Amino acid sequence: MKKDNILSVEDKVILIFGGCGLIGSEFSKHLVNQKAKICVADLNKQNFTINFNDYKKKNNKDIFFYKVNVTDRKSIENCLRKVLKKFGKLDVVINASAMNAPFDKKFNKKQFSSFEKYPIEMWKKSLEINLTGALLIAQVIVKYFSKIKKGHLINIGSNYGLVAPDQGIYEEKGKQKLFKPADYIVSKFGIIGLNKYLAAYFKKTKIRFNLLTPSGVEHKQTKNFKKKYSSKTLLNRMSFKHEYNGAIQFLCSDASSYMTGSNLIIDGGWTVT
Ligand SMILES: NC(=O)c1ccc[n+]([C@@H]2O[C@H](COP(=O)([O-])OP(=O)(O)OC[C@H]3O[C@@H](n4cnc5c(N)ncnc54)[C@H](O)[C@@H]3O)[C@@H](O)[C@H]2O)c1
Repeated sequence: MKKDNILSVEDKVILIFGGCGLIGSEFSKHLVNQKAKICVADLNKQNFTINFNDYKKKNNKDIFFYKVNVTDRKSIENCLRKVLKKFGKLDVVINASAMNAPFDKKFNKKQFSSFEKYPIEMWKKSLEINLTGALLIAQVIVKYFSKIKKGHLINIGSNYGLVAPDQGIYEEKGKQKLFKPADYIVSKFGIIGLNKYLAAYFKKTKIRFNLLTPSGVEHKQTKNFKKKYSSKTLLNRMSFKHEYNGAIQFLCSDASSYMTGSNLIIDGGWTVT
């Protein structure tokens, strides 16, 4: 541990699944600024071009892209092989991949059907990415971490892994525009269980498992939604995407060395009352 800066992530090799997403890309940029070596692994290369190409050029930063499908074990194994070939080691893995319905027009409206009409294929797809994906990542990564006898796997939860949604906040002008789907909530409750299971299962090793639980990030939501969402929090606002950077740096650094099986909750006080 660097004694002068306990939050240092300098030279740590960090692999971020879902690293092209809203939160994953923010983590990637923050951690590379802190001198970590960042491997962005995502299904969507297009988002890498959008989110990182200008950033890489302007800041002269080394961020590397690996195409991966977290629902496919071979694809994760391939990705790990390439990262190890490039850097010779891997210190921390963050799983920020998810099927999380974003609030933009392109999005498939089917995902927002009422509970009674919710398509079973959407339920399956969501659980496959959010839970089976997390399981496969853990299975592949612990093999390597067991070999080097250390390592840290960080999954990303949600305030919807702690409480059920109030569907009323998704109402616009008296009409229920969309419903937050059950699969998202189930997968976020489930990831807490998986995190605890892994920490307990590997208790005799030095491999650590933790969860970071963020809450609603201000993005492309309507004014009305933001107002209703904000009223559920004690700080009376949604979060900004950069407000999780300190927490992820803490988790990736040696400062979190006594932490395993835990859930670091950052929700503006949403789940307090
Ligand atoms: N955005 C929020 O307001 C919010 C709030 C609370 C929790 N979270 C959690 O934070 C995490 C990140 O959320 P986000 O808002 O950045 O989501 P996002 O949709 O912007 O990013 C998710 C990323 O996962 C990738 N992905 C999806 N399926 C994949 C697959 N099969 N293989 C590889 N990559 C795949 C997507 O391409 C995308 O880049 C999620 O776990 C989410 O549940 C987000």
